[in-house]
Amino acid sequence: MEAEKRIKELREKINDADYKYYVLAEPDIDDYKYDLMMKELEELEEKYPQYKTFESPTQRVSGEPTKKFEVVEHKTPMLSLSNSYNFDELTDFDRRISSLLEQKEYEYVCELKFDGVAVSLIYENGKFIRGATRGDGTKGDNITQNLRTIKSLPLSVKPDFSSEKVQNFEVRGEVIINKEDFLKINEEQEIKGEKLFANARNTAAGTLKLKDSKIVAARPLTLFTYYFSTEDLKLDSHYKNLQYLKEMRFPVSKYCKKVKDIEEVKKYCNEIELIRDELPYEIDGVVVKIDSLRQQDLLGSVSKSPRWAIAYKFKAKEKITKILNVTCQVGRLGTITPVAELEPVFLSGSKISRATLHNFDEIRRKDIRTGDYVKIEKGGEVIPKVVEVIKEKRPDFSKDNSRIYTPPEKCPVCNTKLENPDDEVNYYCPNYFCPAQVKGRIEHFVFRDAMEIEGLGESIIETFLNKGYIKDFADLYELKKYRNELIELERFGEKSINNILTSIENSKQKPFDKVLYAIGIRHVGSRIAKILSQHFDSIGKLASATEDEISNIYEIGPKIAHSIISFFKEEKNLKIIRKLKLAGLNLSVVSTLQKEKAPDNLKIKGKIFVLTGALEKYTRQKATEMIEKLGGRVSSSVSKKTNYVLAGSDSGSKLEKAKKLSIRIINEEEFEKLISG
Ligand code: IVH
Repeated sequence: MEAEKRIKELREKINDADYKYYVLAEPDIDDYKYDLMMKELEELEEKYPQYKTFESPTQRVSGEPTKKFEVVEHKTPMLSLSNSYNFDELTDFDRRISSLLEQKEYEYVCELKFDGVAVSLIYENGKFIRGATRGDGTKGDNITQNLRTIKSLPLSVKPDFSSEKVQNFEVRGEVIINKEDFLKINEEQEIKGEKLFANARNTAAGTLKLKDSKIVAARPLTLFTYYFSTEDLKLDSHYKNLQYLKEMRFPVSKYCKKVKDIEEVKKYCNEIELIRDELPYEIDGVVVKIDSLRQQDLLGSVSKSPRWAIAYKFKAKEKITKILNVTCQVGRLGTITPVAELEPVFLSGSKISRATLHNFDEIRRKDIRTGDYVKIEKGGEVIPKVVEVIKEKRPDFSKDNSRIYTPPEKCPVCNTKLENPDDEVNYYCPNYFCPAQVKGRIEHFVFRDAMEIEGLGESIIETFLNKGYIKDFADLYELKKYRNELIELERFGEKSINNILTSIENSKQKPFDKVLYAIGIRHVGSRIAKILSQHFDSIGKLASATEDEISNIYEIGPKIAHSIISFFKEEKNLKIIRKLKLAGLNLSVVSTLQKEKAPDNLKIKGKIFVLTGALEKYTRQKATEMIEKLGGRVSSSVSKKTNYVLAGSDSGSKLEKAKKLSIRIINEEEFEKLISG
């Protein structure tokens, strides 16, 4: 009984935390507490399998990889929208509505048009039982397992909704990937040497079609919902439905707005277009819908689009311009990336004069030549890309084959002969000391996802290198020696130098996995670094692991394993690691835990614990980690200084001694209360 109650309570707490974090973006507990709850729930469900249910937050990722997606029929067709591109077309739309409804009063609901993948979600008895893609509108693929991994998607509706008797219903919405997450995924792809995704929508679509939901779970998919239908209730307004969805804890955009007439719709479109670039996700316009569901019904649909709704599409963020030249950039790993130097144009608010061409294969495939006019597009990427050549505009001189761009033979920065490994599309500069690579490695090291050292932009790093204050990223920790010289540098002052030096010092607190990412092993992105840090809890263990041991880890393939092995074979890398160790960086999980700033739990901070007997819920190691994380210490013997003895079953002499010394003895439940503050 107790266990059942606790399981329920934990599930609600976790669902609540997921809702606050993933839907409201207002988390109210930290990761550590969340992990503890999850762990406890997993352990309880393991121990009491009779209470295990499919809707538990522990069951988001489960089951075997899908072989083939089953095709399912939609309850009602998933329609598409007719488009409009200017306000005159919106006025026409409004006239049609007004005449079809015979001038009766009507209101509109305006929404964002998310650039993602439409999905249908079926709930029975309050539980998510099936999810499908739009497919051809009448039938789609059953992608339930993949959708279950999306944390903003409720696996069951909040228990207090059962009184409303809305238990069977359908929700529709759009699965998207935030711009920033998309950039990270592509960065990971690049690091792994894999193909880049074109944009966030393709990435979301590709991810939903993956056969293995474990991989899907690792991708940051999110969801917005915009449709609700049930036979359990009589519904009359679309806007009310959206509010209802919100109450049921479905993610509904805060930009949904009910408006009186088409002029207000236009105002809304203008407002949204202005903030479009600031939104964390991609939208390609606004969707305008008639609010009354009865009126929607009256209006009906023609072929595949409803008469009661229209999309207002924003102007495409693309322009045509001329390629003046193609140059090459050298990355931190020596990768050569061709870049198109363009005749400058304005595109969604900024002046564009360069666009990436990704690699030489791409240049060949798109047949890009200097002098060509090309269409450039600014998607989720920082740097715009060349979409296609406008062949009709190709000037005569550029038809000349000598204008076909071929990869250079030598590194444009250090003149070393380039290499092109057989199975790769990329060309590399093999010179580890190539100035472009040295600078690139330092830029990567200080990057926000790595050591997060602030104030070190490209040009400052260049200055420090040129002046000889640093030769590699490990030297940053010695930079304080040059404090006086730095303050004297042009454009710097005492304040900015102090800020940089403080930020460098603070970075020593970064956990082991960030350091592992920061040192820049080829193919080791931030997620792989995290996985590695969980398997090998120190850099020493990783360095001495065999290629097989590494590639046996789930998600780590032979390419990554090989790259790690080669990294640790190089004396120059080991030298840098020794320097980082001397500087006091976290090169193991243990040192990270010891150094991590303990949250203020005064019952634990500075207190000495002794563990004795057989613990049921935690391993000794886990309990120790938790105590240390909160600033406590674990000692192996009981003395007067001991504050708590955590006693499991069959405790022996330590327990006796503690009793004699009147030391506080606690069981696992009391321990949990203590750590949860
Ligand atoms: S309503 C008939 N609302 O746009 C109603 N769709 O071209 C159609 N979309 O397949 C769905 N944001 O993928 C609706 N706020 C929104 C939307 C939206 C994006 C997509 C959806 C749909 C396509 C229609």
